[in-house]
Amino acid sequence: MPGGMFSYDEGMTDLIVAACRERLALNPVPLDFGGLKEALDAELSGLMCPEGNEAADVLRLFGDKLATAVVSCDSPRFLSFIPAAPTKAALLFDMFVSCSSLHGTSWLEAAGVVVAENQALRVLSQYAGFPEGAGGCFVAGGSAGNLSALLVARDTAAHRRRDGTAPTRPLIAISDDAHSSVGKALHVIGVEPLVVSTVDHRLTGSALRTSLDAHPRSNDVIGVVATAGTTNAGIIDDLSGVADVADERSLWFHIDGAYGGAALFAPSVRDKFAGFERADSFIVDPHKWLFAPFDCAALLYRRPNLAKAVHTQDASYLEVLHSENPEEWNPSDYAYHLTRRARGLPLWFSMAVNGLDAYRDAVEAGLAMAARAAGLISETPHTELVRDPELSIVLFRRPGWRKTDYESWSARLLSDQTGFVTPTTWEGETVARFAFLHPNTTDAMVREILATMG
Ligand SMILES: Cc1ncc(COP(=O)(O)O)c(C=O)c1O
Repeated sequence: MPGGMFSYDEGMTDLIVAACRERLALNPVPLDFGGLKEALDAELSGLMCPEGNEAADVLRLFGDKLATAVVSCDSPRFLSFIPAAPTKAALLFDMFVSCSSLHGTSWLEAAGVVVAENQALRVLSQYAGFPEGAGGCFVAGGSAGNLSALLVARDTAAHRRRDGTAPTRPLIAISDDAHSSVGKALHVIGVEPLVVSTVDHRLTGSALRTSLDAHPRSNDVIGVVATAGTTNAGIIDDLSGVADVADERSLWFHIDGAYGGAALFAPSVRDKFAGFERADSFIVDPHKWLFAPFDCAALLYRRPNLAKAVHTQDASYLEVLHSENPEEWNPSDYAYHLTRRARGLPLWFSMAVNGLDAYRDAVEAGLAMAARAAGLISETPHTELVRDPELSIVLFRRPGWRKTDYESWSARLLSDQTGFVTPTTWEGETVARFAFLHPNTTDAMVREILATMG
């Protein structure tokens, strides 16, 4: 007989629930630190043993020695990469998803999950301006979303082309500022990138057209990827211009809105997204700027049937999942995955509880913080704004500093717990970068960080 590990353990439950309560109540969440491999390994030594350990001891070890070696991306002082700021409702419901072993693979097994996830997807689809019949699924991250969408672009190319054949060596146009996951996805699916030079870091319709006209194999180009909010600088491509070219040349038009797509919720910048509604597919990551816990990316298709034809897995034991009823939606049919966590539910719960206006306001807060930070940088005598922010990412420099100065400053900020701000490269120059999305980041925090550059 297996031991007690499948029985309800009140003591362990109390311990973990108490730890969750404590974490949820932290205000603010501390930044915490990086870690040293040797020291962390030493803490873990001997833990995996035949007889197991007391839950209280393992939890204490985690809390005291491991959790403190994780830089908290949900701290309002975490301003690197793309931070996180999950709502309390989303975090709590994520716990419930885990406790219920909820999954969201198929209609047969999980209809209640699927309708709720699809309701959340429908909201995203409506903000994007997609038609009623659009649909998709939640995947683990933007990288998985881009990969799954581009596979559909590849495998449906023959249907879009006048001669009805797929090129043997297909290409997809991407910009030189596209996210690294786009290039990786093309590599995985065996499609070559046609890298189009951006105009001030923006992919434009005319640059795309010029590149296609000049390319000896332009007839092999089957799709184009635009970015709605580049990761480095928050720049939105010329979506309408790219959509025009995609229409003219029967290209699949995919938009990577992993970070910036959240700003579709923000009326103040909505006009910058004109043309978004013309995409064949797009992604937006709720685990970034839509305040969901990891891991949650939304992938939507204008015509989901095309994706279904590409992604559905056929196996004799799975035949039972596939009915003729279009209402019976299988999330597993819309991306490269089969079994999947019900990862859209925390977002669904939080949107239902907090209301969509709260999402609008929280996204607007990040945009407003970026605009104020740009002002603070310009006012501070020893800092300089690199360019006006378009969304919530702000690039700035400390004139006279070299790469090593930025690196040591960044390490100092973290060790003082003032902020987590890592440098990036902009047009060959090392600069500092703020990524704002946490609604609790304040002007005072930004001032404090800028003061350390003096
Ligand atoms: C524009 C863009 N696309 C794709 C990704 C990849 O997303 P993920 O890290 O969720 O795989 C990112 C991540 O920052 C991103 O900013």
